[in-house]
This record gives sequence, structure tokens and C-alpha cells, in this order.
Amino acid sequence: MDYELLCAKVIATTRLTGNFIRKESLSFNSDSIEFKGLNDLVSYVDKQAERLLVKNLSKILPEAGFTTEEDTINTKGEVFDWIIDPLDGTTNFIHGIPTYAISISLYEDGKPVIGVVYEINRGEMFSAYKGGGAFLNNKAIHVSKRTSLSECLLATGFPYYQFDKQPQYMQLFSTLMQKCHGLRRIGSAAVDLAYVACGRFDAFFEYNLNSWDVAAGAFLVQEAGGSVTNFTGGDEFLQTREILAGNGLIHTEILDMMEEHFNSNL
Ligand code: IPD
Ligand code: CA
Ligand code: CA
Repeated sequence: MDYELLCAKVIATTRLTGNFIRKESLSFNSDSIEFKGLNDLVSYVDKQAERLLVKNLSKILPEAGFTTEEDTINTKGEVFDWIIDPLDGTTNFIHGIPTYAISISLYEDGKPVIGVVYEINRGEMFSAYKGGGAFLNNKAIHVSKRTSLSECLLATGFPYYQFDKQPQYMQLFSTLMQKCHGLRRIGSAAVDLAYVACGRFDAFFEYNLNSWDVAAGAFLVQEAGGSVTNFTGGDEFLQTREILAGNGLIHTEILDMMEEHFNSNL
């Protein structure tokens, strides 16, 4: 399989869908919001963008299955599977905040081989393919080289529907805020991860995320030379729905804090 060529095709189809989302954002009316659960918003833009992606990705690799957030399709491929979030950062989109992205990954035999995150309003196309490294608008990117937390900028996501771990999370935030340059919550896990991959953020952590939120971005971080684990340092971040992704140089220090504030108190 020529992953580089495949990745170029995915980029082209992602750009098309990005154009659709950008156009809709200009006339979007928040009356058309639907609720999937507490604070879990969706709009016709998410669903139409997903259908467009499914249609075009099916032409690229007809035998592949799909796991998609909006469930416009759900199939299992024998070898290949796409994992798609057509619009990551829907709450931002609905409120007119410009940070949102399309997130697409391709898995082969259960392992990632392609990852694409497109931050639509900045025109930033992050991509990675197996063995090829990671790119931003076709230029190679790498995770940061910062070794001291005191020089680092971190990103996270706040819980918004399941609040059982919130007290421990707040303690962790409090400790981290005092040790680093700052803690950001920009509202799109895919963008958070892409920013780790290109060294803007030094690490990102969040829990309760789904595979479509993180599969592409986590692969970008790995191909850019970083580390991705769950909150106890294991590889199963998709299954355990906890993710810590970073440059690898501050990973143990953050894991130790997580153990102290989070896991030990569960
Ligand atoms: C959300 C974003 C957000 C994260 C949420 C996700 P959505 O995805 O990634 O940053 O905090 O947990 O659900 O719903 O906008 O696709
Ligand atoms: Ca998402
Ligand atoms: Ca989404």
C-alpha cells in the first residue's frame, strides 16, 4: 500500500469537506442545533460533512469500514477502517468560535496508518502516514524539545457531562497551573493533539474522549516523535478513554502528578 499517495487523496477530500463547513459557518443559525446528550451538541453541518467524507473516502478505498461520530454509517472492514469526526469542536462552531477541525484516521489491522486533522479556519492541514513522519501543510513537523515543565504550555479539556472525577481533575489543574507557562482549553481535542505534534503545546490530556476525537491526532503526535499513553502510562488510550500525549520529555512527570491527584483518589 502506498500510504503517501493515500494520504494525499485523504487530504484532498478533507479540504473539500472543509470548504463546505467554512461556507456553512457564514450563514449558520443556532436554531438548527440538536442535542445528543447533556451539553452534547450537533447540527446538520456535522451530519452533511460526515456524509460527504464517507462518500469520497469510499471511492478511495472501497473495502474499508467506517466508525463515524454521527453514525451516518457503521461498518467493519476486513483489513482497513476509517475513524472519522467530521467536525471536532462543534460547540465552538455553534458559538462562532473559529477553532474546529475535521479528524480522519485510517487503521490497518487495528493499527493507525494515516492521520489527518484539518483546522479549517486557519487552513492548517496536519497529516501523517505510516513511516513517513508528520506534516503541517506538507512541511515536516516535530514535537517540542522542552524538558522543563516550567517552560511548557499544556492543553486539556474540561468535563462537560460526566463530573465524577471533577474534584481530582481540578486539583491536578491547580498543581499544573503553578508549574508551567499555562493551561489551555481550546475546545477541539483533534486540534490540541495536532498542536502537540507541531510543538505549540508540549502536552495534552483529557478523559472521556471517543476514538474519533483522538485517533488521528494521536497518530500525528506519534509520527512527530512524541508519546501517547493513558493516565497510567499504558498504550490502551483508545479503550480506557484517557489520553496523555506529549513530547515524551515531560511525560513521566505528568504521569506522576496524575497518579498522585487522580488515580490514587478514584
Ligand atoms: C469534543 C471536542 C472537545 C472535547 C470533547 C469532545 P465534538 O468533540 O474534542 O475538545 O473536550 O470531549 O467531545 O463533540 O466537538 O466533536
Ligand atoms: Ca469530537
Ligand atoms: Ca464531532
